[in-house]
Amino acid sequence: MEKRLIDRVALVTGAASGIGMAIALRFAKEGAKVSVVDLNLEGANKVVNEIQDEGGKAIAVQCDVSNEDQVGRAIEETEENLGRIGILVNNAGIINYSLVKDMTTEQWHKIFKINVDGMFYFSRILIKSMQKGDRIINMSSLNALCGQVTAAHYAATKAAILGFTRSLALEVAHKGITVNAIAPAMILTPMSEGLEAMPDYAKEVPVKRYGTPEDVAAAAAFLASPESGFITGQVIVVDGGNILLNPTQRILVQLLGL
Ligand SMILES: NC(=O)c1ccc[n+]([C@@H]2O[C@H](COP(=O)([O-])OP(=O)(O)OC[C@H]3O[C@@H](n4cnc5c(N)ncnc54)[C@H](O)[C@@H]3O)[C@@H](O)[C@H]2O)c1
Repeated sequence: MEKRLIDRVALVTGAASGIGMAIALRFAKEGAKVSVVDLNLEGANKVVNEIQDEGGKAIAVQCDVSNEDQVGRAIEETEENLGRIGILVNNAGIINYSLVKDMTTEQWHKIFKINVDGMFYFSRILIKSMQKGDRIINMSSLNALCGQVTAAHYAATKAAILGFTRSLALEVAHKGITVNAIAPAMILTPMSEGLEAMPDYAKEVPVKRYGTPEDVAAAAAFLASPESGFITGQVIVVDGGNILLNPTQRILVQLLGL
């Protein structure tokens, strides 16, 4: 594997599981020192052990991204142990399901606190010390573009992430810092448990398979690398072609047996 992130310090939130874990492992393989930030310290420690077993450098940091003070401490702990953070991946997120008519105010605010406020807290601090070549990568979702029945609050947070990404990209572009987002479709992780309830899902995806955390990590590694320096304020959709299937295309694909 190419080592595009040698000597870089990356902080990845929600890195104890799923997509964040795959990103932490991929970044470490590419030479980065990784701060594995998560509410779940036990899970974060396991990821750190895996990185260290492969000869990489990482630390586990327990942090609730929706708590401003904890975010500040997580950044300090990372910089004391690994050095100045040049790559930030705002990946931590939650989902739960409810029709809007049944959604509670608590549900609405909690999801924004974790999925959106956390990203804001980390970004606001780190853009002050970030330099030319540094990177912010925010985890959105295909739901930001298509909506999600029973998770309007989640889709709204993921759309908010895109608005923030584009705005911050413009604010820091002159410094040579890029800010981009990734919008995955359903990816096999603990968050998407229950996917088995949709046995035909993989058949419906144009590339005919489920997405994996490693698919998303590959996009994140590209965005973190020097190769993506002229790309900012963008969203990379990692969905196996899902979004292309509007009703007309779906019918044509089926008619032609493609
Ligand atoms: N899995 C999918 O199908 C999918 C699709 C599109 C986007 N996403 C997004 O990708 C990101 C990662 O999702 P995943 O599928 O890997 O989920 P996951 O549940 O496997 O992992 C999420 C991680 O975030 C951590 N976390 C939750 N709340 C936190 C908090 N307050 N502070 C710190 N850490 C916290 C959890 O402990 C967990 O380790 C999320 O932002 C999610 O919305 C996932």
